[in-house]
Amino acid sequence: MSEKLVVVGSGVMGRGIAYAGALGGCIVSLVDVSKDVLANAKSEIETLFEKGIQRHKISEYDAACAKEKMTYVTDLAAAVKDANLVIEAVPEKIDIKKSVFETVDAHAPEHCILATNTSTMSPTEIGSFTKRPASVIAMHFFNPVHKMPLVEIIRGLETSDETAAYVEKAAKKMGKETVVVNEFPGFVTSRMSAMIGNEAFYMLQEGVGTAEDIDKAIKLGLNFPMGPLELADLVGLDARLNNLRYLHEKLGEKFRPAPLLEKYVKAGRLGRKTGIGVYDYSKKEGVRS
Ligand SMILES: NC(=O)c1ccc[n+]([C@@H]2O[C@H](COP(=O)([O-])OP(=O)(O)OC[C@H]3O[C@@H](n4cnc5c(N)ncnc54)[C@H](O)[C@@H]3O)[C@@H](O)[C@H]2O)c1
Repeated sequence: MSEKLVVVGSGVMGRGIAYAGALGGCIVSLVDVSKDVLANAKSEIETLFEKGIQRHKISEYDAACAKEKMTYVTDLAAAVKDANLVIEAVPEKIDIKKSVFETVDAHAPEHCILATNTSTMSPTEIGSFTKRPASVIAMHFFNPVHKMPLVEIIRGLETSDETAAYVEKAAKKMGKETVVVNEFPGFVTSRMSAMIGNEAFYMLQEGVGTAEDIDKAIKLGLNFPMGPLELADLVGLDARLNNLRYLHEKLGEKFRPAPLLEKYVKAGRLGRKTGIGVYDYSKKEGVRS
């Protein structure tokens, strides 16, 4: 019988994780507090299936089987009662994560593994919100989930070997590569990405170059697939600022957010999701600095 995966939060990341999970053979429930967001997630996931078929990445049969296994629900307690794995992808706010983990812990069966897709937070702390810290771990997926090959797995202090082995296997079934690292603020990828992205904002603020030139220099000179400013727009400038504030608090001065990034967020220029961030997506060529 297929394993049951519950993904909590159907935003940017949750919908991608649910899609990968269904293609990996799981029965998937995608949970959100908002019915509108769930409807939007369903339509985006269906588009992903269609595009996957058109691009010959998946067969029509696999897409149909995966689609059939997915449900979109608002009742978290009911969804997790027969779950094998729960992956939380709610906003990067500790109080929201705490309330989700407390509910999941109270209603999920004892054998269920609880994972967080946090970008920066401590799986040890998140595990402490539950009575099963040995079964709590971070599974850090990347955006966009259906394209990005890595899941960074982060063990908390109490995480058991069985939990780490289980989620490595689950990630592989979703078609992902894994690295298992030890907990430290920002892990490997978020810490490095936040540092590079922040430095790019400082350069833009100092007038070292235009946004386009900074991105071009990093892409063509350092062989990055995307420029750091383009990537910040994709991640969301608010999410990037939250991560930097957290890393600044935990790791000190070198992560102090660039004032220009703070200014953009205050102005509501949050990146692709609002149509304007560093770049203006309403005018194809437009770059603002
Ligand atoms: N966006 C990225 O590029 C990225 C990459 C890796 C990891 N992450 C991490 O993934 C997590 C989610 O990020 P996102 O960008 O998908 O956020 P998002 O804001 O796009 O989505 C979060 C969703 O959670 C829902 N939600 C809020 N409270 C809830 C609750 N109590 N129960 C159920 N659903 C609830 C919201 O309605 C929203 O749909 C964060 O921890 C973030 O740091 C994000």
